[in-house]
Amino acid sequence: MELFAVSQPGLEEITAEELKELGIEGKVVPGGVEFEGSLREIYLTNLWLRSANRVLLRLCRFKAKHFAELVRKAAKCSWENYITEDLPIKVRATSKHSKLYHTKAIEERILRAIKERLGFEPKRAKYEDEGTSVIVRFENDICTISVNTSGAPLHKRGYRVCEVEAPLRENLAAAVVLFSGWKGEAPLIDPFCGSGTIPIEASFVALNIPPGRNRKFAFMEWRNFDGKLWGELLKEADQKRKRVNVPILGFDIDPEAVECSVKNSEKAGVSEVVQFKNLSFPEIYYEKAVIVTNPPYGVRLPKRQVETLYSMLGDWAARHFKEAEIYFLSPNRKLAERVGERAELLTYFSNGGITVGLYRVAYIS
Ligand SMILES: C[S@@+](CC[C@H](N)C(=O)[O-])C[C@H]1O[C@@H](n2cnc3c(N)ncnc32)[C@H](O)[C@@H]1O
Repeated sequence: MELFAVSQPGLEEITAEELKELGIEGKVVPGGVEFEGSLREIYLTNLWLRSANRVLLRLCRFKAKHFAELVRKAAKCSWENYITEDLPIKVRATSKHSKLYHTKAIEERILRAIKERLGFEPKRAKYEDEGTSVIVRFENDICTISVNTSGAPLHKRGYRVCEVEAPLRENLAAAVVLFSGWKGEAPLIDPFCGSGTIPIEASFVALNIPPGRNRKFAFMEWRNFDGKLWGELLKEADQKRKRVNVPILGFDIDPEAVECSVKNSEKAGVSEVVQFKNLSFPEIYYEKAVIVTNPPYGVRLPKRQVETLYSMLGDWAARHFKEAEIYFLSPNRKLAERVGERAELLTYFSNGGITVGLYRVAYIS
């Protein structure tokens, strides 16, 4: 089967590396990674991918210039594996440079084709995350139909019981940790932890816990769901768990944020390896530390205050650790250089509608 791991643009390479670790060779394209696989790879990637948004299965691809042709060809796709009478579905279409451009009409014809093939009217989903979603993409008259194997987006791990201002999506937080290459060798610190997402995702990495361990996926509702295979993959994952021998720490000036981080870490099942404290730039000392953080940079804070915070971050790291690497987000290079003159841009991506760079600054005193 043709599969596609959807990534946030800018994070495709990190998703490809994750796939490689799972033994899957993929081809990086804008917006994700294409790869081949069977049900095993569908389950494995949904369970383990930390940085991806969702995993799609390419059901069929054909040329269509008229609605009658669309219905006829779409009715030949093997819908029976993915759609049952009581499973609600949602069809979403996009169209670029194609004769068929009316997306609502395309969606309606796809539903008609499914009915033609299966002999029943598919149930419509009311909510985005309900049942199975079908993604139809027209480009230059080529129609590609995909089924979303994940269901709710993969960033919804299920542990976020609360959030404070400007939380980072779980998959983006995980991607930032993966970019740092940290796997639990040195203390990891997030001095602006907010809802605790970065330290929690780092705990998953260090413990080698799959981020999808405790959630449901759309493929579990399919007719061909192999519960035995899924059970085996969960068992294998549990056997791969590691111990954590270094501190994983989150700090925040806002007591509510710290309370929220603790709650989230408890729900995530990692509260024993991660600690949160209500402190600003704490007096802690380590030989070596990896600092991974998403400082405040939004429009709500005055520019001066933000600049001061970025400068303080660099000074604090230089004073407290013999060796430190800081991986941090910044909306521009000028601000990033406040942390360190030689701030290195690793990638950039959209975070809540704002394009941010992921920068690295390293110190050795
Ligand atoms: C962009 S949010 C971090 C969001 C976090 N990554 C998450 O996923 O929820 C920035 C955080 O920095 C905190 N903060 C602002 N000034 C601070 C300071 N001087 N010391 C520590 N924390 C501070 C804010 O309270 C806020 O929770």
